[in-house]
Formats: sequence, structure tokens, C-alpha cells
Amino acid sequence: TTFNVGYIVGSLAKGSINRQLAHALARLAPPQLELVEIPIKDLPLYSYDYDADYPAVARAFKQAIAGVDGVLFVTPEYNRSIPGALKNAIDWASRPWGKNSFARKPSGIIGTSPGAIGTAVVQAQLRGMLCFCNSPLMNTLEAYIQFKPGLIAEDGTVTNESTAEFLGNYMKELHLHIERVLTVHPRAN
Ligand code: FNR
Repeated sequence: TTFNVGYIVGSLAKGSINRQLAHALARLAPPQLELVEIPIKDLPLYSYDYDADYPAVARAFKQAIAGVDGVLFVTPEYNRSIPGALKNAIDWASRPWGKNSFARKPSGIIGTSPGAIGTAVVQAQLRGMLCFCNSPLMNTLEAYIQFKPGLIAEDGTVTNESTAEFLGNYMKELHLHIERVLTVHPRAN
């Protein structure tokens, strides 16, 4: 079986190193995983005033999540916390009440930063949010990737051999996680 994984990049920057990481992960993933980006950049700021009538862009966002077998968050850490755009996207997906897109949707978290702890703080915070949203989150492997210039080549190749192997193992583990969750709770949609 092939599983579709929607990845959400927490950065809006054109040169995002986290998008580069996502491209690298798509290349390193086992053949059973099909990766596709779920974009968040055009979502307006969420308010529950929208709950009665979500705008088209937000409906499309929720449909994109409904259409995948799992979600992979690839996010930077901003001021030791979650980038505003990503928090906003999570709020949109989690509502309206009773239509939480993350419920029973397997997920994983990964991120990169030039800093030595490689997004560890934001990942811990994101875990709490996804628990609250009832998303079965992969507990391990954890991946805190310190970004160094040249780590990821233009074509998405990871130039450091041990990092490439580690990231490949992360994606293998994500595959097993999604398979396990969907065995217990097959997708309703
Ligand atoms: C950062 N950066 C950063 N890095 C980190 O490891 N911990 C942090 O708390 C922060 N805080 C922070 C705040 C803001 C507003 C910016 C713009 C940046 C540095 C950050 O890791 C770096 O800019 C990465 O390039 C961000 O990833 P993307 O956006 O390129 O994917």
C-alpha cells in the first residue's frame, strides 16, 4: 500500500531551509510514501467568525488534509516557539468545532535551524498542540536537524552521509507509524 503524506512547511520564506528539508525528505522517503505539500501561505488570520462559512482557501486546506493519510510538519522555530503562520494554519484545520481535520490523522514533526538545538523547543510545543487535536503523533524518532550551508544541495540531495541515513530512517519510521495507526483506525474519508 502507498500512503499519501501531506507536508506542511511552517515557514513563509522563499528561501526556507525547512522547505529544502522537506524536499530532501521526499527524496529519502521509502517508496511506500508519496509526499505532497499542503500550502498555508494564503490562509487569512483565523477567527471563529468564519466558522459558519469558511472561505474557499480554508476549505481547500481542510480538504487537502482530509485527502492524505498522514501529515508531516516541517517547521522552523521562531523566538523559541511556533511560527505564527503555522499556528494560524493549525487553528483553521482544527475548526469548526466537531470538524477537526487532525482527529485520528497520523502525524510527524521535524525541523531544521542553524542553531545547535535544531528546533527542539518548537517541536515540544507542537507536540502539545497535536495531542490536543487528537492527532496520533509519532513519538520517536525525533529529528532535530542543525542546518549548515551546503547540507542540502539544490536538487534536494543531503550531502552529509550520516544525516542522509538518519533522515531516511526517520521516513521509514514515519511510514510504519502511519501504517500502524491506519490499521487500527482506517480512514473514514
Ligand atoms: C529565528 N531563528 C531562530 N532559530 C532558532 O533555532 N530558534 C529560534 O527561536 C529562532 N528565532 C527566530 C525568530 C525569527 C523571527 C526568525 C526570522 C528567525 C533563526 C531561524 O532558525 C532561521 O531564520 C531559519 O532559516 C528559519 O527557517 P526557515 O524559515 O528558513 O525555514
